[in-house]
Amino acid sequence: MQMNETCAVITGGASGLGEATARLFAASGAKVTLLDRDAARGEQVAAEIGGTFVETDVTSEESVQNALTKAVAAMGKINTAINCAGIGTAEKTLHKNGPHSLEHYQRIISVNLIGSFNVARLAAAEMAKNDPTEDGQRGVIINTASVAAFDGQKGQVAYGASKGGIVATSLPMARDLQREGIRVMAIAPGIFLTPMLMSLPEEVRAQLAQDVTNPKRLGDPSEYASLARFICECGYLNGEVIRIDGALRMQ
Ligand SMILES: NC(=O)c1ccc[n+]([C@@H]2O[C@H](COP(=O)([O-])OP(=O)(O)OC[C@H]3O[C@@H](n4cnc5c(N)ncnc54)[C@H](O)[C@@H]3O)[C@@H](O)[C@H]2O)c1
Repeated sequence: MQMNETCAVITGGASGLGEATARLFAASGAKVTLLDRDAARGEQVAAEIGGTFVETDVTSEESVQNALTKAVAAMGKINTAINCAGIGTAEKTLHKNGPHSLEHYQRIISVNLIGSFNVARLAAAEMAKNDPTEDGQRGVIINTASVAAFDGQKGQVAYGASKGGIVATSLPMARDLQREGIRVMAIAPGIFLTPMLMSLPEEVRAQLAQDVTNPKRLGDPSEYASLARFICECGYLNGEVIRIDGALRMQ
């Protein structure tokens, strides 16, 4: 799919990886609708890139359906859905105050895994209405996993499980949506310099960069965005997860 034919909804588009993707896609000629719960920041980014913003909670069926309806009204159709909304707070299975909070575990699974599925399934229903291309294609869904799906750290039991679920989603969802001509991919980022990471002290960031094999630096969100664009443009990628991590393998 060429960028000038792309009509993309991007969750988490108000910040970090989603924002960088929205900026690159818009600059490359795509139509973009941002879905995020952060209205102030989302409106600002959308205005800067000539896109549309809809305040959305990805965990809510009603909120996402409303956002997709508005996205279709603004762009004419949806043929790309990129899930970047996510949260990543840490807690150990057992710690000095007791066992991991069940509510906290459920919250992370709810936003990262169920929220991504909620957007993917409702976006697929919109994409299925599109006229097919010559080779029967109607759209692409990109979910965001993490290297924590493979090398989760202490305190990442909920986050790692949510991202493992994203990895395990790619193939069965690609098979489910074969008839409709919708591809499904996942990106597993290493450590990227987004607002979440920028809040860490400089020496912690430098240490994290030292752990990366090559190049010895944190990922730039524009590099995630480039991969998302490549996945859209390369029509033979489907049902897989791609790590983008400078060969980082965490202890
Ligand atoms: N930054 C990294 O190093 C890194 C590494 C691996 C994976 N990831 C994943 O990439 C994705 C984006 O991360 P980021 O670093 O850009 O984070 P970020 O915090 O900069 O952006 C996340 C965005 O998601 C939005 N959001 C959160 N909950 C939401 C909800 N319920 N409904 C709608 N929007 C919601 C936030 O408002 C925010 O704008 C996340 O899934 C994260 O787990 C990030």
